[in-house]
Amino acid sequence: MNISTLQIDNFRNYQHAKLQFANGINFILGDNAQGKTSLLEAVYLCGVGKSARTSKDKEMIKIESKQSRVQVKLNSKRGKESVDIVLDRTANKRVSISGVPVVRLGELMGVCSVVLFSPDELRIVKEGPNERRRFMDIALCQLSKTYFYTLNNFNKVLSQRNKLLKNGRASDDELFIWDKQFVEIGAKIAKNRRGFVDRLASFAKVRHFALSDTREELTVKYHGVDSQDLDIVKQTLQSQLDADRVKDLKHGYTHSRPHKDDIQILLNGTDARCFGSQGQQRSAALSLKLAEIDILTDLNREPPILLLDDVLSELDNSRCKKLLQFCKFTQTLITATHIEQELLDSIEHFKKFVIKNGTVE
Ligand SMILES: Nc1ncnc2c1ncn2[C@@H]1O[C@H](COP(=O)(O)OP(=O)(O)OP(=O)(O)O)[C@@H](O)[C@H]1O
Ligand SMILES: [Mg+2]
Repeated sequence: MNISTLQIDNFRNYQHAKLQFANGINFILGDNAQGKTSLLEAVYLCGVGKSARTSKDKEMIKIESKQSRVQVKLNSKRGKESVDIVLDRTANKRVSISGVPVVRLGELMGVCSVVLFSPDELRIVKEGPNERRRFMDIALCQLSKTYFYTLNNFNKVLSQRNKLLKNGRASDDELFIWDKQFVEIGAKIAKNRRGFVDRLASFAKVRHFALSDTREELTVKYHGVDSQDLDIVKQTLQSQLDADRVKDLKHGYTHSRPHKDDIQILLNGTDARCFGSQGQQRSAALSLKLAEIDILTDLNREPPILLLDDVLSELDNSRCKKLLQFCKFTQTLITATHIEQELLDSIEHFKKFVIKNGTVE
């Protein structure tokens, strides 16, 4: 899959910009605060339906503008398509695919498949389980609209169940209704996540082995309900709910999985989160992202679009070169303040954009 054109109007610090990307590597260069990340954010918005930087859509609208518009034109195995997103200060965001308005955001999933790696993505390794669930869910939503809707439903059920527990007057009958849905929907989520991590594990191991010059073995394990059999997952979730009932009522929220699922990340057998160096953690996070590309490519039969924000400055030259070699096979947008000639010399084809104060030179 690749983007031929990105067009933005009144988006972040841009009044208007139109970029025609090449199929392989595209460098987006410029000083700090000129608008490099904003371009990746616009593409990510078309892929995932929201920003990776903010949960508030309106923050992306150019200050003092009423409306912001982003459009990507895509070539994929489905043919030519476009995604249009309009952000409005006083109305909900509007999404259309090839000119047809989208009623439910799930329809957008998979149309413009993206994988983002920015310095923030270190969170996947470094921080709590929330970050790793976000990682699994964003990948799974792009792989399947059904997963997107299932996850939305699950979050609603969880929030209703918690509301009931919080007001302290939950009757057994009322809880039973939510428990039934929690188990039904939660089991599907757990099964999908488990399947995703199993696939991720083998790809990530290979990627990390290469990235670390065979020095490190990356092991990735799913930490949640330990079965792929939907009935067994349901039974496990039900017994967890039953066992946690008193605790749930006492504290006013749901303790059970799968909203607590996690991924264990080990480097040469020890927990990367606690014992990994900064560079090791960064490389492990990158290997997970590259493995995510492998999964998307494998299942969609075409690579997604890779967005690399400020990543090269954080890796040593040998890792940068390996990464760039990999990027040749997937359309990649790379932002950087500058790029060393040695790195440019290591690749044959690339396109370069220079960004200055919200304009493309
Ligand atoms: N809604 C907005 N309206 C106008 N300008 C904005 C808006 N949001 C952010 N900006 C400004 O846009 C500029 C570009 O931000 P961006 O994060 O894209 O820069 P960058 O080139 O990636 O910089 P860096 O190299 O520091 O990462 C910043 O000066 C920022 O303050
Ligand atoms: Mg930036």
